[in-house]
Amino acid sequence: MSRAAVLCGLGGALPATAVTNEELAAQLDTSDQWIRTRTGIGLRYVVAPGEATSDLAVAAGERALESARRTGGDKAADVDLVVLATSTPDRPCPGTAPGVAHRLGLGTVPAFDVAAVCTGFVYALATAASMITAGVAQRALVIGADTFSTILDPTDRTTRAIFGDGAGAVVLRAGESGEPGALLGFDLGSDGGGADLITVRAGGSRQRSTGEPPVEGDQFFAMEGRPVFTEAVINMSESSQRLLDRVGWTPAALDKVVAHQANVRILHAVGEQLGLEEKQIVVNLDRVGNTVAASIPLALTDAAAEGDLLPGHRVVLTGFGGGLTWGSAALVWPDIAPVTA
Ligand code: ACO
Repeated sequence: MSRAAVLCGLGGALPATAVTNEELAAQLDTSDQWIRTRTGIGLRYVVAPGEATSDLAVAAGERALESARRTGGDKAADVDLVVLATSTPDRPCPGTAPGVAHRLGLGTVPAFDVAAVCTGFVYALATAASMITAGVAQRALVIGADTFSTILDPTDRTTRAIFGDGAGAVVLRAGESGEPGALLGFDLGSDGGGADLITVRAGGSRQRSTGEPPVEGDQFFAMEGRPVFTEAVINMSESSQRLLDRVGWTPAALDKVVAHQANVRILHAVGEQLGLEEKQIVVNLDRVGNTVAASIPLALTDAAAEGDLLPGHRVVLTGFGGGLTWGSAALVWPDIAPVTA
């Protein structure tokens, strides 16, 4: 047994406004049938004007802390670290996490953002878990929150069909590696050679330093769907397999894979690569779309709330996103009650 970070709280939050495929089809050249068959998505949520990533992050954070309290008592919510994964911060500077910690009444705890797009939550989880095992922190709130609706080109039928806003959060505490909920290992990677496949070109130092106004359209999120699809399948499958080998689990012994919810065809292809059955793959993108850094914790929240994830289940989380980045984490599911809206 060794010191480990143990999952002890889980919560999620969505904005109030749901957008159906039919509503998108009324504005853009698309259809419910195309979106469902090509992506598996039926619904996504978007923030209201003036609503920011931090608003969703605070709501999800509150719920994860409440979830931790329900199993561990009041002390379980005494976190001494906040890590927020987001690629849609409230503003370019400062980070969004300190404001979230402040609004959650967490005092002067260290708080910072991690930007790894759709892999952000796994990177943030690895960062917080490492700080706990190193003794730098005792309890951490790890949040994944994004509002991609604020950076999409309103005329782009592809990205508007896929992305939705949301936030998901977990609480980690210091514990032992043999406990249910202990994070047993991570596999993380990146390939900056693919940076242009998933990008927002404007808004950073590269364009600002020219002194010229941003090129029209470059303020929007841009993605090359086909190569991203292929890279997502390869990297989530290979990362999961490397982690399974390290942890000593076979794919057949795995109960659930909770992969980044980008496209149901990607999820099925990852399952095929790993030799998994459909029942081993958690799917909630039909209801929320691709919520970027919120995707994995929201999928965990839904699966746990619906009894699809049960105490004792062997679980692998795996994500892929802009950067390119990818990452996976393994744990045995603990006995926790998620808090949703
Ligand atoms: N409605 C109707 N037609 C559409 C739509 C839509 N919403 N979106 C694209 N199409 C069209 C295209 O314009 C294209 O038309 P054309 O043949 O006339 O040019 C046609 O459908 C086929 O386009 P493809 O890109 O080949 O379609 P594909 O089946 O690959 O699906 C998709 C596109 C859904 C984007 C897919 O490639 C995908 O899921 N890619 C991965 C996206 C992803 O995983 N992103 C997550 C990482 S992003 C991050 O980290 C933030």
